[in-house]
Amino acid sequence: MSKRDNISKIIDHKLFTEDDIQQMCVSLGKQLTEDYAGKKPLVVGALKGAIFFLTDLVREMDVEEEIDFMDVSSYGNSFESTGNVRLISDLSTDVSGRDVLIVEDIVDTGLTLQYMKELILQRGANSVKCCVLLNKEANRATDVEIEYYGSKVGNEFVVGYGLDFKNCYRNLRYIGVLKPEVIAQTAE
Ligand code: IMP
Repeated sequence: MSKRDNISKIIDHKLFTEDDIQQMCVSLGKQLTEDYAGKKPLVVGALKGAIFFLTDLVREMDVEEEIDFMDVSSYGNSFESTGNVRLISDLSTDVSGRDVLIVEDIVDTGLTLQYMKELILQRGANSVKCCVLLNKEANRATDVEIEYYGSKVGNEFVVGYGLDFKNCYRNLRYIGVLKPEVIAQTAE
């Protein structure tokens, strides 16, 4: 079965096209360029979902920046947060005194970003802000501040452009909503 046949079986509808995503990156990049003018931010991507967003976003930022990655996991069964955040792979950069911008694909409960923000602040960063592409507010369980986001989304499970379901569909160029029955089958 081709990738396209397989995808039409699991995607309910497209939520954001490639153009929509590009517009969000342009607009966030412009805002970040202004806010980080004269600074040299350390842009920290949350693996693995943020890789596509980070690469597009930093190319819209007209500032001298550095990039690093951190792998933090909170998802136990692919569609629902476990509530436990684990550090799987750490930064290689010393963050003390740095202005850090965490880049994440989507914020849901906020536990992942809260964990990352606190850890980086404890290590002596000068500032830590979060930039997410999608802001899912329905299940928020923390008061972590999301300084920048591309768009709000409802309480639906989305895939594509870095966002995965069971580690698949990250390489879709658009973002689509997963069919509820796909999630229901997995939950059974
Ligand atoms: P949080 O810690 O609950 O905010 O979860 C953040 C992480 O959950 C994100 O980095 C994603 O990996 C995952 N996640 C939350 N909602 C979705 C979704 O709709 N699609 C794919 N991954 C999601």
